[in-house]
Amino acid sequence: MQREEPQKTGPDAGKARPGKTSGVSQPQARQDNARGAIGASGAKSDEPRQRRALTHVGGTIETAGDAADAKQLAHALDVVPSSESEAGRVHVHGFHTYPARMHPDTAARLVSAFVPTQGRILDPFCGSGTVLVEALIQGRRPIGTDLNPLAVRLSRCKARPRTAADLEHIRARANECAAHADERRKAKAGATRRFLPEDVALFEPHVLLELDSLRAKIETFRDDPARFDLQLVLTAILVKLSGRRGDTSEAVAPRHTAAGFAARLFVQKTDDLAMRLAEMSSLLSSPTLRPAVIEQDDATVLRSVQPRPVDAIITSPPYAATYDYVMHHALRLRWLGLNPSPLIRGEFGARSTYQKIAPSESREVWSRELAKFFQTAAGVLAKGSPLVLVMGDSAVGDVALRADEIVADTARVCGFIASARASQDRPHFHGPTMAAFRTRPRAEHAILLRRK
Ligand SMILES: C[S@@+](CC[C@H](N)C(=O)[O-])C[C@H]1O[C@@H](n2cnc3c(N)ncnc32)[C@H](O)[C@@H]1O
Repeated sequence: MQREEPQKTGPDAGKARPGKTSGVSQPQARQDNARGAIGASGAKSDEPRQRRALTHVGGTIETAGDAADAKQLAHALDVVPSSESEAGRVHVHGFHTYPARMHPDTAARLVSAFVPTQGRILDPFCGSGTVLVEALIQGRRPIGTDLNPLAVRLSRCKARPRTAADLEHIRARANECAAHADERRKAKAGATRRFLPEDVALFEPHVLLELDSLRAKIETFRDDPARFDLQLVLTAILVKLSGRRGDTSEAVAPRHTAAGFAARLFVQKTDDLAMRLAEMSSLLSSPTLRPAVIEQDDATVLRSVQPRPVDAIITSPPYAATYDYVMHHALRLRWLGLNPSPLIRGEFGARSTYQKIAPSESREVWSRELAKFFQTAAGVLAKGSPLVLVMGDSAVGDVALRADEIVADTARVCGFIASARASQDRPHFHGPTMAAFRTRPRAEHAILLRRK
């Protein structure tokens, strides 16, 4: 998973090549291993763990379990971080920020390795839709769910083929919005609604008025699907125009924005979206391909996933105790008038949940949360089908929550076999929880479970 990151274009983007994966070679002896369970430590009990140097990414990738599967997982983790390349931000992946996105190359490689051709693949924590987009590009049939209504909107916008006429229409509508905002600015028109104190604190007054005019015009496009795209363009520029430093930062600094800039930025960002959508659409095998099916749903319920079973699940649940999606997206949800209540009630792994408990209880609480998800996931997968998780270790106080260990322990009693794993050490910069990783570094894992 990447913190505000994540890619590559073309139909073969990120596809695992047979034989050597980039920088990771798997000894033949391990390829002969039968599929089997990974122990509580995450390692297959009868095999030593292996650590291998990678050629170009910091860190080694350690693998365990079924050799062929572990090799695919290692290949999926072996990506160039977005801080060092544009790979994570190509076409639609670069349109809108979203905390802890999966690296698109990781998603593409996992889809290629674990989803049958034309198979139905579910991402029940779909976030900004990275897995869904990559699955669509590879001709699979993606299904996404998320409890965050913004994630649902964003994924629907990205994982949908568009024609040149669709995109021209979105651009024309954006120009109408900007013209409306300019007109109102020049006429010194007042606000269309009462501003909330939170927004008054975040934006310069003239910026707030321009944003209000843009939003008001977008809302007039009642039955026009461009409305949803333009709402996302608006939320994509909100933080940049506010005094906030970023999505996951609460710090506010003064800004000096020129009159008319918000409307100009809105048009630029719409052009950028249209270009990205065109590029993504050009990668699809057919322009008439069906869009991904995306619904707001709780990953511990998945009522909307029909018919069952699906052929595979590939997903990255929230890191335990690390993010608060409700808090990170409060501004955007407010501006789009989206109801945060389901996310407030059901957010998985929310930092606020773990702040209320003692560190010593955190492992048990995380394991219970995961168990609910695994039991539900078992109900939507056929016997033998894969559930691939990309998860990072996290910490509460000085207690490390090792995702590989907790997943292996929990999944086993919820209808899954832990089949293979690849893990890569990742730096941990959070001062208050540094002690948790004193003896063993924090790691990111790609974990393959199979439905028993
Ligand atoms: C790590 S993010 C997924 C990021 C995604 N893979 C991407 O590339 O954008 C985890 C997601 O889980 C969602 N989430 C949290 N609790 C949930 C729940 N109970 N059911 C469904 N989704 C949930 C959050 O809204 C967030 O979008």
